[in-house]
Amino acid sequence: MSKSNLKKWIKRILKFLGIFLLLLCIVSGYLYYKNSNYDMYSLYITDTNLKTKITSSDTKEIAKELVSQMTLEEKIQQMYGESYGGGMTKFVINAVLKERFPHVYVGKNDRLGIPPWVLSDGPRGARVLDKEIDAVTTFPVGMARGATWNPALEYEVNKVISSEMRANRVNYGATPCINILRHPGWGRAQETYGEDPWLMGEFGVAAVKGLEKNNIMACPKHFVLNSIDNSRWIVDVKVDERTLREVYLPHWKKIIQEGKPASIMSAYNSVNGDFCAENKYLLTDILKNEWEFDGFITTDWVFGLYDGVKGIQAGLNVEMPFQQAYTSDVIETAITNGEITEKQIDQLVIESLATRLKYALVNDQDKYPHSVIGKASSIDLARSVAEESMVLLKNENVLPFKKERGKKIAVIGRIADIENTGDRGSSNATPMYVETPYEGIKKYQEALGNEVIFNDGSDIETAKQIASEADEVILIVGFTHEDEGEYIIFSRDKMLEAAENGKPTDNTSFGGDRVDLRLLHSDENLIKTIAPVNKQLAIVYIGGSAIDMSSWEDQVPTILFSWYSGMEGGSALANILYGDVSPSGKLPFSIAKNVKDYPYFTPYTKEITYDYYHGYTLFDKAHIETAYPFGYGLSYTQFKYDSLQVKQSSLSIDDSLSITVQIRNEGTIPSKDVAQMYIGFKNSKVDRPVKLLRDFKKISILPKETKGVELQIPIKDLAWYNPETKSWEIEHMEYEVYVGNSSKKEDLLMTTFQVE
Ligand code: BGC
Repeated sequence: MSKSNLKKWIKRILKFLGIFLLLLCIVSGYLYYKNSNYDMYSLYITDTNLKTKITSSDTKEIAKELVSQMTLEEKIQQMYGESYGGGMTKFVINAVLKERFPHVYVGKNDRLGIPPWVLSDGPRGARVLDKEIDAVTTFPVGMARGATWNPALEYEVNKVISSEMRANRVNYGATPCINILRHPGWGRAQETYGEDPWLMGEFGVAAVKGLEKNNIMACPKHFVLNSIDNSRWIVDVKVDERTLREVYLPHWKKIIQEGKPASIMSAYNSVNGDFCAENKYLLTDILKNEWEFDGFITTDWVFGLYDGVKGIQAGLNVEMPFQQAYTSDVIETAITNGEITEKQIDQLVIESLATRLKYALVNDQDKYPHSVIGKASSIDLARSVAEESMVLLKNENVLPFKKERGKKIAVIGRIADIENTGDRGSSNATPMYVETPYEGIKKYQEALGNEVIFNDGSDIETAKQIASEADEVILIVGFTHEDEGEYIIFSRDKMLEAAENGKPTDNTSFGGDRVDLRLLHSDENLIKTIAPVNKQLAIVYIGGSAIDMSSWEDQVPTILFSWYSGMEGGSALANILYGDVSPSGKLPFSIAKNVKDYPYFTPYTKEITYDYYHGYTLFDKAHIETAYPFGYGLSYTQFKYDSLQVKQSSLSIDDSLSITVQIRNEGTIPSKDVAQMYIGFKNSKVDRPVKLLRDFKKISILPKETKGVELQIPIKDLAWYNPETKSWEIEHMEYEVYVGNSSKKEDLLMTTFQVE
């Protein structure tokens, strides 16, 4: 080719590339604009939109009528979120590029006038935001709220969250997370309420009722046995029937039967070989048939369902958020082959329609203007929940610090002045503001005229110097979204690879499980350097679960667990440290002395067995002393428990056990305590836990006041599950009842009763 010809060709190619790039820019610009400004739809039925005449108040009848008018294709459209291509583009542009989680519209049918439904995550606040809204009230994480041992507060929190979801034009809340904390390393520990099914059940019911109060379809998640994040898409959890029934399912059953949530989200993992979304035993046999759950089941997102036919056979109603496995091809072929019937499809669609129509018919959107977001009362609630959640584990006469003028206070630590409301996974609500620990303490102290010095601890010698010159030191240690939380990685193959190698091969991920339960080395170093130079020292831990404190615990005079404490956490912390509020949080999990005492756990695995014992039942059974027991937490006063009495010492299986106990506040300040009732099974003929939590009550008691508390439990809740007879059995024997303010033997009074 001659030189001039070559030049001509190069010019042509460049021109072509130029046009191609221009077109690409125009198309991307258009897609970006269109998806950022996506259409919003009403979620409610008005007199005009539903094109079927409503002749019944029974939404099941309406749903049946609507389904009878649908083509197969229209029925399939009710069974997934948005289309794969369109939905994915909208999701990536909004959630990834703009960091705004979009409204994903599910099940809209214009021909029949059926409005869609929209999900928002929300364990700590509404995640999906309306166009003009930038932030919402953001609460302490679930584990912190579990530590309040106050389900009444959880109800209030969820009422606020659900009202703000409604104001953001959402009608379905993917919360609460009620997976049992089997091992403290689980990255999403912060989202749930603790290790114990009973405590979990009480909190889950409260949360669901709070959400449903504002006509948000509640969606407890993730059903079930989901508590390893770095392998969540691939791990098969092996569990025997008795463990499943007694440990991992009781709270689900209670929440479904007492809370009556509209929906349930299946877990990513598989159980005994079948993915949860394809698991007929879990979804249909147990959930729908045995427990009579009459809402609808959705998958967890993107990697939730693989085999559409198995999903339908299992009773899975809706695939989220895109159409991946519930495709027309797959469904039509399976109907033709006789693997499934159109009747099964009808049934699945009727179940979801009947449920969501109930909410669509309550056309009360006017009650939720944008002004419901961030109300003063909601912010006050965020602060009082944070205060009630803080757990004082150790206090050698240091706290509360004196409220005096003329003091010099040092606040030290890498995370002492950063906005740290928890992980950056699906529960990442956008807070209106975040008061950091340093800001909260500074505001409090400045009002007293005191000087507060902040140091981030990066230069250890400077930190030591500042600490030694201060009247008191508040050392903030712990984690952020980089150290723990929902595991953010965008490849299932990488997860498989990591499980095969026993370690991750990708360093672009963040969050996830904690392999090492110790604090970061830099935090431990700070503690060990500062503890010897100032005895007026408060160690404040921020995180979502237990840590291994064994290497420094005996060197410090105080330890306070303050959790990821939400947007008002800084003020709440100051109020606790300076004694405006006496701590009343109790551990919702046990902390082992030795990390080897926890059940086996690895973040990288394709298979794991969940045994019958974990948490306090494991430590009790194996006679292992804990560092801090389940239910434990100090206050600034002392409570004395006395006069434990069973109202009736001989009971039949239809009765309820009722006990009374007298609790005296022996100190000089008002405070709250949590009376806990455990039932013991010493005389059992089968292997049973030493004791199980069966009731609790949080109460306020004034100085020198004595209050009587009554706790109760129906005898049927003392049954064990016999896998051979496939039934719950109540033993006729003498039981122990323990009452006190922690699960530790020394903190409990004991008496007995008989079940005839
Ligand atoms: C999480 C769910 C969440 C969903 C939607 C998933 O990755 O596991 O808890 O509801 O995303 O954000």
